[in-house]
Amino acid sequence: DWTPNAFVEETVEGLKTKLGDDKVVLGLSGGVDSSVAAMLLHKAIGKNLYCIFVNNGLLRKNEFQDVLDQYEGMGLNVKGVDASARFLDALAGKSDPEEKRKTIGRVFIEVFDDEANEIKDVKWLAQGTIYPDVIESVSATGGPSATIKSHHNVGGLPDFMKLKIVEPLKMLFKDEVRRVGASMNMYSQLLGRHPFPGPGLAIRILGDLTAEKVRILQEVDAIFINGLREWDLYNKVWQAGAILLPVNSVGVMGDERTYEKCVALRAVESTDGMTADWVNLPYEFLQKVSNDIINKVKGVNRVVYDISSKPPATIEWE
Ligand code: XMP
Repeated sequence: DWTPNAFVEETVEGLKTKLGDDKVVLGLSGGVDSSVAAMLLHKAIGKNLYCIFVNNGLLRKNEFQDVLDQYEGMGLNVKGVDASARFLDALAGKSDPEEKRKTIGRVFIEVFDDEANEIKDVKWLAQGTIYPDVIESVSATGGPSATIKSHHNVGGLPDFMKLKIVEPLKMLFKDEVRRVGASMNMYSQLLGRHPFPGPGLAIRILGDLTAEKVRILQEVDAIFINGLREWDLYNKVWQAGAILLPVNSVGVMGDERTYEKCVALRAVESTDGMTADWVNLPYEFLQKVSNDIINKVKGVNRVVYDISSKPPATIEWE
């Protein structure tokens, strides 16, 4: 019989034996998987686990600092690296979704490699890979972590990719990961967090990115997500977020005509993200959130709600 407590005990013992006094580096994303993997390793090897949390400037409002504080509160040996400017510079002028994704992946690898190289004698790279990731990457690309490597098969691998790999969650499903985290008393807010894509807000700002657009979307998204929490809807939704459309529309404010941005709100129910249904959020909630967004976020004068399901629509717009 599988129980989270027994899993933690066995895994921590196994990691101790496997890793001894070796140093391990791990990239934290703020998501459930990397956080739980870090906690298991922390229990096993303490300060020999070096966590790196990169701010790509495309996270939710205040997320970098909030999550970094939580990681520190958990006792993790974590370094927060603010690389926002580096990501935004690299993304300037790029509007194609795949090009944006590739750019973010490349800059992340560069930043992470620089940081990993600062750690003397590091031997292992830890990853929060879970069972569905293993299946997916085996069937899609011929082996785990093949995708990340595909960007880098020209000119050799970055140093951290030559490290030995340790993946303590490799045999678990998502709900088991959450239970393991809960049995280690991890913050429920961290464990219950909605999925959030690696490229972050970059794929929710349709077209090219600017610092100003990121700021607008962070404000809109924060009103929406905080509203979901306040109305006790957050945990009834699998994933939610806001999208900044490359569209201006006419509005009125006082006796002035405005010509400003339009945002879309999206909330879906799903089990694995492969299929998804839009959520029938209460009209009163949508009305309140829409008013708040238009009144508080300068530059936005229209809010729409996405009522498309996947398939044929996808969850993200890019
Ligand atoms: P789609 O838009 O394909 O999204 O229906 C399904 C799930 O995957 C997430 N997603 C991504 N996650 N990098 C990620 O780490 C990406 O490039 C990416 N694109 C989509 C999306 O947020 C949803 O949970």
